[in-house]
Amino acid sequence: MLAQTPPMGWNTWNTFGSNINEKIVLENVDAFVRLGLPDAGYRYIVIDDCWSCHERDPQTGKIVPDPVKFPHGMKYVSDYVHDKGLKFGMYSCAGVRTCAGYPGSFDHEFLDAETFAEYGCDLLKYDSCFRPTSSNGPLLYRRMGMALKACGREILYSACNCGRDEIPQWARSAGVHMYRTTHDIHDYYEFIKRIAQSQMDHLAESAPGCFNDLDMLTVGMFSSGPSDLAAAEYRLEFALWCMFSSPLMLGCDVRKISPEMLALVTNKNLLRIGQDPEARPPMVACTAPGDQKYAMLKHLSGGELALGFFNMEDQPSGVHALLEDFGISASSGLALSLTDAFTGEPAGTFRDYIYHTVPAHDCRVFLAKIVKA
Ligand code: GLA
Repeated sequence: MLAQTPPMGWNTWNTFGSNINEKIVLENVDAFVRLGLPDAGYRYIVIDDCWSCHERDPQTGKIVPDPVKFPHGMKYVSDYVHDKGLKFGMYSCAGVRTCAGYPGSFDHEFLDAETFAEYGCDLLKYDSCFRPTSSNGPLLYRRMGMALKACGREILYSACNCGRDEIPQWARSAGVHMYRTTHDIHDYYEFIKRIAQSQMDHLAESAPGCFNDLDMLTVGMFSSGPSDLAAAEYRLEFALWCMFSSPLMLGCDVRKISPEMLALVTNKNLLRIGQDPEARPPMVACTAPGDQKYAMLKHLSGGELALGFFNMEDQPSGVHALLEDFGISASSGLALSLTDAFTGEPAGTFRDYIYHTVPAHDCRVFLAKIVKA
């Protein structure tokens, strides 16, 4: 079964954009394996936009891989990925062109799905630029959903229409396994914050089989150079994506990931929260109306809970969790016993309320158990 938990992997777009080629992909695959990312649950190697020639083959009508970027074709890359025990993902678009201007799958859905199946594709990211104005968005996604069903290969369907056409209403019925509801992420804190805040009203939309995708992670990219602040922002990003049960698609250059960032994206406790099979949304409480400090409590399977303190403000701030807000009343006589998700260390037992001073753009995250006070 596909997407029983939020899909995990790596995607070329955030770091490489149109500058992709076989060498970059295979080297990232090698680094991926060497660093143990598959053991942590990362599976999909996804080639995003700009992999093909600008025109289809005039004889067959098929999309053709760019012979300079991918001299051995896509099956070669796919075989390489499969030989490492990983899954191979590709990209197309519901419009006549992809977002970067390459051939889109509009009116070629069934042929293209067959072509992707011939490549040995296991995931299709399906974008929505350049759709004819007269076209019907949900129908275009249904069409590719059917084309993937009919292509003879099980392919995870990753829709990317930035939340248009009320996609949460129909994604699941169209066979979609994950879908974007936001515009693109970029490697700046403002994007992490904006995307996370825009999802507060959409948290209930993710469930096993079909997940709301907050976009590829920027964790570890350090586009503006390494800094403690950027490291804090990536902690916040990764922990939120886990709290929200988002797919976890790395977007950094895996060959260059720092030990600290590798430890973050392979942190067992955070992944336990992000990959919980029940995929419940967290309960969210704001410290005060209008502020940007959030306490979140998420039910996990097996009697555990996850508790997060997120400070999205630009200065260190106190963030509190009132246990009442999450259903633990004072009269219950119960408390929460915490384990720090980052260090694995016991972090105390608390009744009524928990308070942390959290650095700017950072978070504290705990696994929690309900105990008698
Ligand atoms: C859109 C998507 C991005 C990426 C680009 C490629 O902007 O949202 O994730 O796939 O297209 O052109």
